[in-house]
Amino acid sequence: MSAQLFIWTAFAVLISAYLLRPKRTPFPIVNKYPNDFLGRRAAREAQENARKLITEGLAKHQGPIAINLLHGQKIILPASLAGWVKSNKDLDHKQLVKDDYFAGIPGFEAQSVLHGDDETPKRLIITKLGQNDSTMGVMNESLARGFRALWGDDTEWHAINWHQDTGGIIARAASSVFVGPELADDGNWLGLVQGYVTSYFMAVYDLHAYPAWTRSIVHWFLPNAKACRKTVPQVRAIVNDVLRKRQDEVDQAKREGKSAPEYNDALAWAQAASKGNIEPGDLQLSLAMAAFFTTAEMFRAILVDIVRHPELVEPLRKEVWEQISAHGISVAAANNMVLLDSFMKESQRLSSGLVVLERAVLKDTALPDGRILPRGSQIMVDSTNIWDSNTYPNPDQFDGYRFLRKREAGDTTSQFVQTSQDFHVFGGGRHICPGRFFASNELKLALAHILLKYDIRFAEGCDPKPIMNGFYAMVDPTVRLEVKRRMDGAAEGILGERS
Ligand code: HEM
Ligand SMILES: *[C@@H]1O[C@H](CO)[C@@H](O)[C@H](O)[C@H]1NC(C)=O
Ligand SMILES: *[C@@H]1O[C@H](CO)[C@@H](O)[C@H](O)[C@H]1NC(C)=O
Repeated sequence: MSAQLFIWTAFAVLISAYLLRPKRTPFPIVNKYPNDFLGRRAAREAQENARKLITEGLAKHQGPIAINLLHGQKIILPASLAGWVKSNKDLDHKQLVKDDYFAGIPGFEAQSVLHGDDETPKRLIITKLGQNDSTMGVMNESLARGFRALWGDDTEWHAINWHQDTGGIIARAASSVFVGPELADDGNWLGLVQGYVTSYFMAVYDLHAYPAWTRSIVHWFLPNAKACRKTVPQVRAIVNDVLRKRQDEVDQAKREGKSAPEYNDALAWAQAASKGNIEPGDLQLSLAMAAFFTTAEMFRAILVDIVRHPELVEPLRKEVWEQISAHGISVAAANNMVLLDSFMKESQRLSSGLVVLERAVLKDTALPDGRILPRGSQIMVDSTNIWDSNTYPNPDQFDGYRFLRKREAGDTTSQFVQTSQDFHVFGGGRHICPGRFFASNELKLALAHILLKYDIRFAEGCDPKPIMNGFYAMVDPTVRLEVKRRMDGAAEGILGERS
């Protein structure tokens, strides 16, 4: 760290401790300790013991509680208020993202596009990326190439690079639909975009350590924010180059009286939909930011559960095989993979964080009991009830059939992409994740490739444990996964040959 940065940090910590000294809040603060003037202990407790703070705090106070973090305060509402939060227009997700993820800082353009006033990206995600068969064949081809390149065709057990080779599969498959064939397998492109997403989230983390009023200056000096700033123009240039080449192809086809080539990807769809109002490279970065990390984490959680439950591999394999045989690579096939759907949702239930529905309060807003959420405060809703034995018997036990049984018993809210009163892992209301259909289809195809083409196991002695990071959970990043290509002629018929 340079001397300049060190001085900034020391200064910033003191100032932020002052500015963020526990404010008057209408709700009990559950991490307040004697002699903790800088709020260090409070921050540490929130980081390490958030689950205990939330469940014990809510039980004790029978209503909203507040938790102090170094960079501000969060009000936690009980799960019973989820429905109220979802439908209240003065509780806003965009503002929260602006406050907490710093849309507007140079280099963070992807965030500004994703949560800007122009809803084109969101509409595009919902209408074009959602339930469209045209994306499925493209992703299948990409997955076949991706697994060959990253997991290999070796029929002997071999280790893969857990983070890189799972994230890489997801990034490639998504890119095949986001950016199209010219760049989707391009190592330089994938490196740039994946690097941007990582730098961006690290820059956000770094900036939280500084008081709000210094951030507009500090960001100029932070290495991760600098990296973002450097990547944006590079990405714009590459994408605009592809668009120019496509235009040339169209022009040439016209001149020769041939039908113009069609492009089935978000790059082309966004050009048509945004009428040139959104910088195409920024849109690519924003799709990557929303899609890569979230989907890859889900993918990793599911893989860990597949290894832990070998008894479910045959039934899953059979289902995937039957559905692709009957419906080809299609949305219908994915929709009919009902056991896989249940398995994925159970993985999500057990790997989820502690809170959902994070919102900023746009104006003083009365809770149903009359108490006021102050303007400018930030709220989140307790979601630890997804481990409640009243709703989910044996809640700590993984049960791959759990949601399938509910579904067969007539429950119409138990699919992976659905939310229900007690399940908001994809959010809810106006801001519910628009990418969940895409993520679900991508995950099902990737898992179909794995089930039909690979055997997987942990390396000797590997026993992954989820990692809690404050309110959020992460799949163990140190998993050592071993894979081997299966010698199954039938599977190769539908998902591609060994090389
Ligand atoms: C398993 C993967 C994913 C998870 C767990 C996830 C989760 C979430 C969550 C929790 C929210 C906030 C919703 C709320 O607070 O009500 C959200 C919003 C959003 N997600 Fe996803 N997401 C995933 C994949 C994707 C993908 C693949 C895309 C794009 C193709 C995407 C695009 C978005 C966008 C644009 C928003 C903002 C919506 C708004 O502000 O109105 N997500 N996501
Ligand atoms: C599905 O994708 C195709 C392009 O491959 C597009 O023309 C069509 O409009 C999309 N369908 C919907 C419902 O958006
Ligand atoms: C999926 O992609 C592979 C590789 O290109 C191909 O061989 C296979 O036929 C595709 N499967 C289907 C059902 O389209």
